[in-house]
Amino acid sequence: MEFTQEVRKATDPIYQKISKVMPEIEWSVHAPYIHKINKLKKEKNAVILAHNYQTPEIYHGVADFSADSLALAIEASKTSADIILMAGVHFMAETAKLMSPNKKVILPDMDAGCSLSSSITGKDVRLLKEKYPGVPVVSYVNTSAEVKAETDVCCTSANAVKIVKSLGTKRVIFLPDDYLAKYVASQTDVEIISWKGICIVHDQFNKKEIEDIRKNNPGIKIIAHPECPPDVIEASDFAGSTSGMIKYVKDNQPKKVMMVTECSMSDNIQIENPNVDFVKPCNMCPHMKKITLPKILDCLENETGEIIMDKETIDKARISVERMAAIGR
Ligand code: 13P
Ligand code: SF4
Repeated sequence: MEFTQEVRKATDPIYQKISKVMPEIEWSVHAPYIHKINKLKKEKNAVILAHNYQTPEIYHGVADFSADSLALAIEASKTSADIILMAGVHFMAETAKLMSPNKKVILPDMDAGCSLSSSITGKDVRLLKEKYPGVPVVSYVNTSAEVKAETDVCCTSANAVKIVKSLGTKRVIFLPDDYLAKYVASQTDVEIISWKGICIVHDQFNKKEIEDIRKNNPGIKIIAHPECPPDVIEASDFAGSTSGMIKYVKDNQPKKVMMVTECSMSDNIQIENPNVDFVKPCNMCPHMKKITLPKILDCLENETGEIIMDKETIDKARISVERMAAIGR
């Protein structure tokens, strides 16, 4: 694809925004795709929902809405578009389908999975329910629709504590993220029965690394995602969902910050916070990174990667997501 004058003119306002994190030579490769995708979106009445971990050319170039998992699920239920393209991972596309069952939901790479989501099946949840009869099941949104269909209420990192507290029970089965379960347990009096799932990205951070960064950068604010190991969260100044972390930076404008999470977040947010100096950790999510502009274009052009599920699973799973949406952040 060629970087023509027409493409340059149409995409220059976007490049002006992101030039701080992207050399012009790289932009000349992305711009023709961005131009074509944005035109095609209008022609097809499609919307692109992007997770905060998508790369800057997707996040700032083609996304109509970018957010954390909770806001993406809510936005999917509200859109008037005919097609929802999920620039994110498989469970996010499934969740969008649950929230908008009559819409066409497409995912640019069906192999964009998640280590948390793949750690547990619907059968595992049924066995847990047999073992702990009457104990409500709270599942992190990073689960398959099949698991959500066995779940009482879903949650995300933005509202996990609130959801667990809202149930008013002494015990809760909380799955699949063991670290998030520990974080919730530390914030409530509820006994948490957890599952041994982990996020392969956040599990790579360790306390020593955080302490070293603090020592070498006096005054730095360190903010972590709740999928990190508990001692990393303890060593940080703040923990919150991806959107919670973004809000922290916007509201507090720290001189220097480190976001203890996936790489692309710092690039995306640096653009909107030019006065903040970012110390960038680089743990990349191999699943999120499967989504690229050429794959988005191909998916939108040919409407491939459609999420198809049976009605029973959709109906059962949707209830758990709707309950979460009703409780909110
Ligand atoms: P949130 O955007 O909900 O914080 O989730 C982070 C994540 O790991 C998504 O895959
Ligand atoms: Fe899953 Fe972790 Fe990747 Fe998010 S960052 S999609 S939780 S593997």
